[in-house]
Amino acid sequence: MVMDNVLFTDKLAKNCSVVAGVYSDGSLSSSAQKIDENFGGIISRNLKKLNFVGKTLFKTCSFVADHGDYNHFILAGLGESDKKFTKFELEKLGAAIYSGVSKLDTDVVVAVEDVDLRASCDCVPAFIGFGALLKSWNFEKYKSKKDESIKLKNLSLLTADAKIAEEYFAKLRKIADGIFLTRLVVSEPANVIYPESLAAMAKNELSPLGVEVEILETAEMKKLGMNALLAVAQGSENKPRLAVLRWNGGKKSESPVAFVGKGVTFDSGGISLKPGDNMHEMRYDMAGSGTVLGLLKAVALNKLPVNVIGLMAMAENMPSGSAQRPGDVVKSMSGQTIETLNTDAEGRMILADALWYAQDRFNPAAIIDLATLTGAIVVALGHEFAGLFSNCDELADQIVKSSVATGEKVWRMPMSEHFDEGINSDVADMQNIGKPNVRGSSITAAQFLKRFVNDKKWAHIDIAGVETSVNDLFICSKGATGFGVHLLYDFLCENYVK
Ligand code: BES
Ligand code: MN
Ligand code: ZN
Repeated sequence: MVMDNVLFTDKLAKNCSVVAGVYSDGSLSSSAQKIDENFGGIISRNLKKLNFVGKTLFKTCSFVADHGDYNHFILAGLGESDKKFTKFELEKLGAAIYSGVSKLDTDVVVAVEDVDLRASCDCVPAFIGFGALLKSWNFEKYKSKKDESIKLKNLSLLTADAKIAEEYFAKLRKIADGIFLTRLVVSEPANVIYPESLAAMAKNELSPLGVEVEILETAEMKKLGMNALLAVAQGSENKPRLAVLRWNGGKKSESPVAFVGKGVTFDSGGISLKPGDNMHEMRYDMAGSGTVLGLLKAVALNKLPVNVIGLMAMAENMPSGSAQRPGDVVKSMSGQTIETLNTDAEGRMILADALWYAQDRFNPAAIIDLATLTGAIVVALGHEFAGLFSNCDELADQIVKSSVATGEKVWRMPMSEHFDEGINSDVADMQNIGKPNVRGSSITAAQFLKRFVNDKKWAHIDIAGVETSVNDLFICSKGATGFGVHLLYDFLCENYVK
């Protein structure tokens, strides 16, 4: 399911395959050059023969050694020799190398070391290894026949200081474990992952790591007045849960950062039923909660010295005799009333109570919610960017910065009164969809959420287009991406870890 090991070494073992870095001008990386000299110029000779141009940053191509102890030499294009690599570019390089060698049944050593000299991040081999590791994950749990073409178990990176790289990589490995948990729960079908089972999974995964896990059930939610969340859940046999995850890594006096995830384990639309085509994709509608879960795992594994709250707001949105009806009015935990005009706009109702609860109980320094909230954000930003909304420029800038660093792209979207007015209802304080003359429904949805954060610093990330991919991406195969874990981990490190 995932490659066994990423190793760091300063020696070349015999009978392994070697990945040699090549620049766009045809020159070899210095470590590859040394190997070339020791093997009678085998790399440079083949380089000419194949007319390989190392221009395309992540292209690999391979040839078999005609003599010597090595099975294979694989060329990896490194682009211009003076261009600086970002962390994410190093990850992409690692992922491309993994794809190029994963079918080999030898050990593989990567010789691209002098990339070190022109990288803008602290540990180059570790990030290359991280990219390879992320790419190696796949979900084939339900396949009776596993893919046997993938042979690679260990990938070794040639580096002068293996110890430093190992130490650095150990941290990245734990972030990867968080990402893998997110990918796993997002990939699982809705008959396996429903509020009760996802809550149990959160407890099993996180309690042993020192995270306090509290699970609220229907009765407690009723007591707290979470009628918006309950309204969404009332049509389903699967009862809702609110998982409250607490990582107390910081000082007692420091207010926590709260992450709130939409966890609709299946979104049929409810009585406002969705069309049948692609309805199965709505098993991914818990990705926000999945991201919060993976993030808390990464934070706890690396014992980040910061206080973090994770809220997983989980329900299943189904049509039935007990389901909420279009036109129903409920009073949310905040006291504000909501007219449900469309039962398919359920995410914001769940988040309304979860956000209010987050600010009310924990007085957080900042709240960030993640939600597969609107189809419209996919129309606006495609599958390339998540939509970022915020009531605080500073917070938004911090998130954008981490987005650039990690390659998990977000694009800030506007908020304004026009859209806010669009959700004023004739019969209640607000309605859960915008009026027909107000378009831009991703913004309307964000305006709705804003009414439940009580002016706390808040950001909302609409991940509807990025939580899964129908195509293979650089650092993951098609399916669940784990988007947001690395982004928000980086955000915490940059802004809250002292
Ligand atoms: N979960 C969906 C949004 C979604 C759509 C996620 C496509 C991923 C892919 C959400 O609950 C929803 O149904 N939103 C509606 C809102 C509308 C009724 C205002 C939508 O986007 O159509
Ligand atoms: Mn919906
Ligand atoms: Zn939904």
